[in-house]
Amino acid sequence: MELKLHNVNKTYDEKDILIDINLDIHDESGIAIIGPSGAGKSTLLRLLSLIEKPDSGEIHVNKYDLNEIEPEEYYKKIGFVFQAHTLFPHLTVLRNITLILEQVHNKTKEEANKIALDLLDRFELSEHIHKRASQLSGGQSQRVSIVRGIAISPEVLFFDEPTSALDPVLTQEVLSTIIKLREEKMNFVIVTHEILFAKKAADFIIFMDCGKIVEMGHVDILENPQSKELQNFLSNVFLW
Ligand SMILES: Nc1ncnc2c1ncn2[C@@H]1O[C@H](COP(=O)(O)OP(=O)(O)O)[C@@H](O)[C@H]1O
Ligand SMILES: [Mg+2]
Repeated sequence: MELKLHNVNKTYDEKDILIDINLDIHDESGIAIIGPSGAGKSTLLRLLSLIEKPDSGEIHVNKYDLNEIEPEEYYKKIGFVFQAHTLFPHLTVLRNITLILEQVHNKTKEEANKIALDLLDRFELSEHIHKRASQLSGGQSQRVSIVRGIAISPEVLFFDEPTSALDPVLTQEVLSTIIKLREEKMNFVIVTHEILFAKKAADFIIFMDCGKIVEMGHVDILENPQSKELQNFLSNVFLW
């Protein structure tokens, strides 16, 4: 995928949240955004997925200029997996996936069912298709959210800490699902606090602190961090 940001700024209540962000990334398929809490990671992800707009600056994702494209048009090209609880609880697993395919992507009921059933099978969720989403475990629910995200064949899938609400076992379950996406060359951008996972799943790392990108590069920057900030962050993460 391509990500290009030019002098992007975002403030909330006159507080600088993202400060002059510049990025020019080509031909990377897995990108992880890491950094301490409050660094601006989720805000950056919301701008990349056009949930919000910057106060100034330009953002291009693949061929799309996010200042120009209509959000509804862009949302057909991307997928988003949030922290938790984004399925419709009263609908079945199958319906949670077919709904968006039929109503937003104009698939017939048959086409939607086929896509959904194939994916649920591939991600070992077939036994749950007729359960209501509210009956799933946290890990199953996130895996269904991922399947829903990829069902529309997005150009890029965005994840915001998809495991932060899960216990360690369920976390592994969800992370394995994301690793599988990588093997299938799906483009994704993930905000994660799972550093070992980022090492394994991402090609490119963006480290943010205090609203800025402090360091970025291929995943081996985690082995050999140059900035004091990333060195400190990594030593705190691995303290325990
Ligand atoms: N909608 C909002 N309104 C006001 N402040 C916000 C909003 N969203 C985030 N912030 C503030 O922006 C900063 C960065 O937040 P966020 O992007 O969520 O960081 P991260 O995901 O790295 O933890 C934090 O100080 C947070 O309090
Ligand atoms: Mg966040």
